[in-house]
Amino acid sequence: MLNILSTFVLLTQLVSSISIPPRDTNVSTGSGTWKSFAPIPINPRQEHGAVKFDNDTLYIIGGIIASPFPTVTTVQKYTISTDTWTTVADLPIPLNHPNSAVVNGKIYVLGGLSTIDNPDLPFWNATGDCFEYDPTPNTWTTIAQLPEGRQIGSAAVGVKGNTIYLAGGIVNTNLTDDEEGTVSVFTSYNVKTKKFKFLADLPEPRDHAGVGLIKGRLYVLGGRAYGHNNTKDTVFAYDIKNNSWTTGLAKMPTARGSLSSGVIGTKIFTIGGEGDPNTTSGVYPQVQAYDTGKDIWTLYPDMDVPRHGTAGVVFGNKIYIPGGGLTTGGDPTNYTSYFQPS
Ligand SMILES: *[C@@H]1O[C@H](CO)[C@@H](O)[C@H](O)[C@H]1NC(C)=O
Ligand SMILES: *[C@@H]1O[C@H](CO)[C@@H](O)[C@H](O)[C@H]1NC(C)=O
Ligand SMILES: *[C@@H]1O[C@H](CO)[C@@H](O)[C@H](O)[C@H]1NC(C)=O
Ligand SMILES: *[C@@H]1O[C@H](CO)[C@@H](O)[C@H](O)[C@H]1NC(C)=O
Ligand SMILES: *[C@@H]1O[C@H](CO)[C@@H](O)[C@H](O)[C@H]1NC(C)=O
Ligand SMILES: *[C@@H]1O[C@H](CO)[C@@H](O)[C@H](O)[C@H]1NC(C)=O
Ligand SMILES: *[C@@H]1O[C@H](CO)[C@@H](O)[C@H](O)[C@H]1NC(C)=O
Ligand SMILES: *[C@@H]1O[C@H](CO)[C@@H](O)[C@H](O)[C@H]1NC(C)=O
Repeated sequence: MLNILSTFVLLTQLVSSISIPPRDTNVSTGSGTWKSFAPIPINPRQEHGAVKFDNDTLYIIGGIIASPFPTVTTVQKYTISTDTWTTVADLPIPLNHPNSAVVNGKIYVLGGLSTIDNPDLPFWNATGDCFEYDPTPNTWTTIAQLPEGRQIGSAAVGVKGNTIYLAGGIVNTNLTDDEEGTVSVFTSYNVKTKKFKFLADLPEPRDHAGVGLIKGRLYVLGGRAYGHNNTKDTVFAYDIKNNSWTTGLAKMPTARGSLSSGVIGTKIFTIGGEGDPNTTSGVYPQVQAYDTGKDIWTLYPDMDVPRHGTAGVVFGNKIYIPGGGLTTGGDPTNYTSYFQPS
């Protein structure tokens, strides 16, 4: 997340291939490699949405660009087989932290943070505006608004069947003091019936969290509450069947917010993040995976270029991370890379 006026104080620098020692004996070590792919053209980007569209394509949606960090409408498609980017139709409004998902061949953006009502003021507010993108004929359509009180950006987003789940998020951000309005509300939207549902609140408010939906359970990993530095190491699991949350699961080895995540098999990988007092950039390099079957964590090699403010997109056993921020606050990059655990 961005903090325009923040001057980042250099503390100790501590970056190695695996930075933080295991803090419990159930944390083991894994291996894997990072490789770069084609950089994002036009503008380096962070705080965008990133979704898998099909087995060969991902999209990045909105976000912010270099200082003074305007929010953009740009939407771009990356094709794996050709390693190329294509710009498609713009979002109807500029959005950062859009809540993005793909269901049945359409991209859905269910709210996000916007500057549209106050372009000259140093804060972002959540919008309830929702959109559906159809790649053929390359058009965005405005759909039902998020219900009153449920407008959010930076929610933990999961999809099961025709339903999109939005857990937590922020309702606003004051860019001058790192104050963020974090919430615990949990809402779903069924794209077939076009109905929203209010589900059981998260056990605690969270935004900028990691997420994964496995076997009917939506996991919300880490994230933060009310500002960059208040990072969390919790794992919460929501059972769709009985509308209830389970707490007390194995904690993340390193608490992190604004991380990327991706599901491979039964594991949820949590990658990078923002607010690290131990690195000069303030960005967490850690890659750590939660095994949802065993309730244990594995540490993997650090990110090649540590980033935050982006999202993971999984193809097979590779997690693609397009762009993101290079330092705490705003420092968008066009760098892209994927992690392949071995
Ligand atoms: C390690 O995890 C196992 C379950 O996988 C559990 O039974 C055991 O108590 C855990 N040990 C510690 C030290 O947390
Ligand atoms: C990506 O950014 C680097 C510098 O940060 C720049 O040299 C390069 O031209 C950019 N690539 C594209 C495709 O825009
Ligand atoms: C927008 O966010 C600011 C703080 O970041 C808050 O004071 C203001 O009430 C919000 N406006 C709306 C319309 O929610
Ligand atoms: C944003 O933070 C600044 C600095 O703390 C404060 O002066 C201002 O009133 C805040 N704005 C809002 C809308 O809360
Ligand atoms: C909901 O289901 C999960 C998984 O079966 C279970 O662990 C949990 O205890 C259940 N919660 C309630 C409140 O029944
Ligand atoms: C967050 O931490 C950084 C460095 O650790 C510090 O410079 C900054 O002032 C902190 N922000 C807040 C809002 O406390
Ligand atoms: C910073 O590094 C120290 C020493 O390794 C560690 O104890 C601490 O947990 C780290 N803090 C964070 C927020 O990662
Ligand atoms: C996409 O890939 C998955 C596994 O990698 C495979 O099961 C599925 O059939 C593929 N779908 C298409 C449309 O190629």
